[in-house]
Amino acid sequence: MTRTPTGDLIRPNRKTNGVGVQAEDTRICVVMVGLPARGKSLIAQKVTRYLHWLSIPSKIFNVGQYRRSETPAPSASFFATSNPEGERLRRAAAEAAVNDMIKWFQRGAGLIAILDATNSTKERRRWIQNRCAAEGIQTMFVESKCDDPDLIMSNIREVKATSPDYKGQDPEVAAQDFLARIQNYEKVYETIDEDELDLTYVKLIDVGQRVIINQIKDYLQSRVVYYLMNLHIKPRSIWLSRHGESTFNLEGKIGGDADISERGEAYARSLPDLVRRCGDGRKLTVWTSTLKRTIQTARFLTFEKLEWKALDELDSGVCDGLTYADIEEQYPEDFKARDEDKYNYRYLGGESYRDVVIRLEPIIMELERSENILIVTHQAILRCIYAYFMNVAQEKSPWMEVPLHTLIKLTPKAYSTHEERLKADIPAVSTWRGKGSSAKHAEPTDEERNSMGKNVGSGH
Ligand code: F6P
Repeated sequence: MTRTPTGDLIRPNRKTNGVGVQAEDTRICVVMVGLPARGKSLIAQKVTRYLHWLSIPSKIFNVGQYRRSETPAPSASFFATSNPEGERLRRAAAEAAVNDMIKWFQRGAGLIAILDATNSTKERRRWIQNRCAAEGIQTMFVESKCDDPDLIMSNIREVKATSPDYKGQDPEVAAQDFLARIQNYEKVYETIDEDELDLTYVKLIDVGQRVIINQIKDYLQSRVVYYLMNLHIKPRSIWLSRHGESTFNLEGKIGGDADISERGEAYARSLPDLVRRCGDGRKLTVWTSTLKRTIQTARFLTFEKLEWKALDELDSGVCDGLTYADIEEQYPEDFKARDEDKYNYRYLGGESYRDVVIRLEPIIMELERSENILIVTHQAILRCIYAYFMNVAQEKSPWMEVPLHTLIKLTPKAYSTHEERLKADIPAVSTWRGKGSSAKHAEPTDEERNSMGKNVGSGH
């Protein structure tokens, strides 16, 4: 227990599963359904990244990986229904994946498992449903149905032809073999239909152009469905920038609603050109917080602008307007507690990084639905958004270095997010603070930089 400045006792942070409202014993198996090259693995990876970011423990069980341990490089004929040995091995791989998944649930390791495979027959889906039901695990089938030959071919060329199944093979030969594999699956594929109305399912048709939803049962399931409905695969980028240096930054004070400094103003003036240089001439929408320093920074950009309260800086409660040295002196226990668990530490009367993630969820949903967006926001907020796209672990994200006067461009690719950083030639103080330090302005050492999860290169 801790005391507030007025002496009231407050409870330490209660650790929740991040969902906040749903019982922690809910267990859901999300079962992917669909022909090969329909983006199932991509969807599975995005969903787990989103769930991890929300502190909902989840794991993908990819049947292909199990199959690969026995049959690392099969040709299309392995997948023919006329190949009994192939059928046996594929069935064994599915059983091994489901067994491991059930053990994972039994260990209490997580709340949501994703069974990533074609699961393309009614018989296979019924079998999974029964195995899960026997363990008290809910099932939610997610079918990706798409017949656009261009999309399928681009998926094959981008992802499949370079998969471990085709290691060392000519990409064109691999692509042709993969098409033959799909034809074998097409012979037995049954889309989810009226016979399966008792199942919980989501059918994503033509990459979300149409969505059919059936028997969604609870909050967590509906969260996953809502996320799936917002996904799109149009090429786009997201640009992130902190506001220009503020007068509070110069003084080493946190929080507040200060104006930007002279150098911050120079950054604001340079931002349109910086964006032009790495924006490929694309039309953007600019999102800022409701605080003066972000609005001032974005004001020379000629694009449409939107202010979001949810993008305001982490609320530092009673410490708002103090320097880190002031906090160490006035709230020594809190100062220490924050260093020990920065992600979960909640300022007295304020917020934790965990709280910020929860309030940023609508922003992430909206970002997933949108195309090119430039976000001008604050250090802690930017860390949380960056962590979502780059899959940065919670214990690292609050320590990441996100310098002032730097534009970060994130471009989502099939299985990763590509990052570029463009530094404006305008100096600014560093507001980064290392563990235990209360220095006003300090730069991380190379060692600290390497350990904080910055420039992780890609996010899944
Ligand atoms: O110092 C700038 C600032 O944006 C503060 O307003 C905010 O409290 C702080 O950064 C967040 O960073 P940290 O979590 O590292 O203290």
